[in-house]
Amino acid sequence: MAAVLICVEILSLFEVSSGSTTTSWEHHIRADLLENYDRKVRPVFRGKREVEVLFALRVSRLVKVDNQEQVVVLDTWVIQEWKNEFLTWNASEYGYVQRIHFAPHEIWVPDIALFNNGDDEINLAGDQASL
Ligand SMILES: *[C@@H]1O[C@H](CO)[C@@H](O)[C@H](O)[C@H]1NC(C)=O
Repeated sequence: MAAVLICVEILSLFEVSSGSTTTSWEHHIRADLLENYDRKVRPVFRGKREVEVLFALRVSRLVKVDNQEQVVVLDTWVIQEWKNEFLTWNASEYGYVQRIHFAPHEIWVPDIALFNNGDDEINLAGDQASL
């Protein structure tokens, strides 16, 4: 009789833990923010015009300098920073979670391309090229 009770308790523990992983704070924030979110719309409230994007290029490695071809190959990080006014939440209502991650294809990203980029395949924000 005692063994049966223990089994039931273990099962209910699993239910509780699996239930809480599918409804984490991050899950709630993502669900609430992405509901009715349109990634094609610039992330500014009505009345405001431009989205300010901070843009930085950080060279991490000089790969090659080819004098004859006149080509310099660099490994770089492209850092872009902007505020998305639609993707904000009150941390005290979401377990004090301050930061969550989105994939570039889920949200609006700046449509910035490097002019004279040597590699046509490179796309700065991981979005499909539209130019
Ligand atoms: C965030 O939520 C808390 C609790 O509901 C509330 O007291 C506080 O005023 C809210 N802050 C903002 C900036 O809305």
